[in-house]
Amino acid sequence: MLHTRIIVAKNPEEVGKLAADVFEDVLNRKPAGVIGLATGSTPLPLYRELIKREQEGKIDFSKVRSANLDEYKGLAPDHPQSYRKFMQDNLLDHISIKPENTIVPLGLAEDVQAMCEAYEAQIEEWGGVDLQLLGIGHDGHIGFNEPDTYFPGMTHEVQLTEMTIDANKRFFDSIDDVPRAAFTMGIGTIMAAKKIVMVVTGSDKKEILRKTFWGPVDPQVPASILQFHPDVVLICDEAAYPL
Ligand code: PGA
Repeated sequence: MLHTRIIVAKNPEEVGKLAADVFEDVLNRKPAGVIGLATGSTPLPLYRELIKREQEGKIDFSKVRSANLDEYKGLAPDHPQSYRKFMQDNLLDHISIKPENTIVPLGLAEDVQAMCEAYEAQIEEWGGVDLQLLGIGHDGHIGFNEPDTYFPGMTHEVQLTEMTIDANKRFFDSIDDVPRAAFTMGIGTIMAAKKIVMVVTGSDKKEILRKTFWGPVDPQVPASILQFHPDVVLICDEAAYPL
């Protein structure tokens, strides 16, 4: 717990508002900032709040660039369950960000290596991620970096764990439709972000949150590496707060 700032909010809506404060602060200081975005249920109140704040004139996304953490392998950008589609529907179509300034790993990439390298190169060309948003999986994954024997460096292909496939089946017609593989920023990509905000809600995340920030740094709990990042803000609700 060297560098992590922890904010405990009452409920998921308040988590969204507090996380939006962090985005507002970073983007008002750097209007062409680079934000790292995440999918999942937890960021939804934040995305609703960001849309509202731009409508109220408090944030301006017209110069902002965004890079998403991950994408399912094999899903086209317009597939209803693709993360590109999720981002368009829940945030990007509702703010002034320019489509060419948003990137998500390409689910249909034929040359995986080239796609992953181009993804890293684009982020680097933009000057790196100023603010990276993260959720956390029940197995401690960030992006789709699953428990492993090491911390993977850069954007790469991963095989999803049964736990992740099971957690994500709620979005698909059946568990057999959930892709078994994905592309994700690496732990190195995530750790290179200048600032990280992690949002966590619900009592089912309490145990993994305890392991992440109050346990040893261990690639079997990928998010635990965040203990070594110099600027992490953890925003969780009371139900998820482990202490
Ligand atoms: P969730 O997903 O916000 O839907 O719980 C988090 C994650 O798997 O990273």
